[in-house]
Amino acid sequence: MFSIGTLNLDNPFILAPLAGYSDLAFRLQCREFGAGLCFSEMISCHGLHYRQQNTLDLLRTVLTERPVAMQLFGSEPEIMGEAATILSEYPIDCIDINMGCPARKVIKKGAGCYLMKLPTLAAKIIRAVVQGSSLPVTVKFRSGWDHKSITACDFAKMAEDNGAAAITVHARTWSDGFSGTADWRIISQVKQAVSIPVIGNGDVQSHGDGLRMLAETGCDGVMIGRGALGAPWIFSADAPENPSLAFRLAALNRHLALIAQHQPDTPPSQIKNHAGRYFKGVPGGAEIRRQIFSQTSFASLEEVISSYSPVLP
Ligand SMILES: Cc1cc2nc3c(=O)[nH]c(=O)nc-3n(C[C@H](O)[C@H](O)[C@H](O)COP(=O)(O)O)c2cc1C
Repeated sequence: MFSIGTLNLDNPFILAPLAGYSDLAFRLQCREFGAGLCFSEMISCHGLHYRQQNTLDLLRTVLTERPVAMQLFGSEPEIMGEAATILSEYPIDCIDINMGCPARKVIKKGAGCYLMKLPTLAAKIIRAVVQGSSLPVTVKFRSGWDHKSITACDFAKMAEDNGAAAITVHARTWSDGFSGTADWRIISQVKQAVSIPVIGNGDVQSHGDGLRMLAETGCDGVMIGRGALGAPWIFSADAPENPSLAFRLAALNRHLALIAQHQPDTPPSQIKNHAGRYFKGVPGGAEIRRQIFSQTSFASLEEVISSYSPVLP
């Protein structure tokens, strides 16, 4: 369908990096529904430099999930380059650089979206990561810092000139945070400005929305974040848009099996955050959600979910 450097994707629909959510089990679940590529949540370059255990835990992967991309964040070119070299020792396919995160704790350190204010430093970081690894390097950023500085086209050209193999544009500014509506027009403008592949991102809530983004903006790939939470079937053209409770329970059962197999030590709160979303706003879902959130262990959660499955048509 499209390529990121040497990496060929068979589906332009891609799972976004989502801190606290895009872990190995969820990425596998999205791949099973056809996602062309999944991104890990952001990984601190300092955490890799000091080989901190909680950072190394985020690198958990298995060969069956490939292709997979791991996302780095940081603001020091040398440490980012070193982190890229460490990441390259893992069986992964792509390294992404986070230049779009609006969170205060990331911005305060000069990383994430703050780098859109510092394009010369951003260029050095991209070069360092490209030199530190032989994997394709991608960069994820926003439309700009605020509505007075929509700089995505220049930023995209800078990323291309410094060796990025593809870019992702979240069509909101830093000042928007996650509010308002993504302005997809900026994705079309960026697509016209560079020759590397452009992945569009922002407010894709259904498979149909993704097809519309591809058609309206001419982008090469569509990255889905919130729309995939509790709805990993969004990557599949064949899945129903609003599946039945039985379909949702089966999908959640599979997700829980992947957690049990690959990351049984996941905290119950993190599992419940995923599980509850499968039934949000769905007729008959409120009681299941209530039961999910009142469980205190993985085993009791699994029991509740499997107790529902036989009683549904
Ligand atoms: C809970 C949550 C965690 C996120 N974590 C990351 C992250 O680690 N790295 C990143 O680049 N973006 C992160 N994002 C932003 C998403 O990748 C994506 O750009 C944004 O949600 C817009 O896409 P959507 O409308 O499809 O959700 C996060 C968003 C949410 C809601």
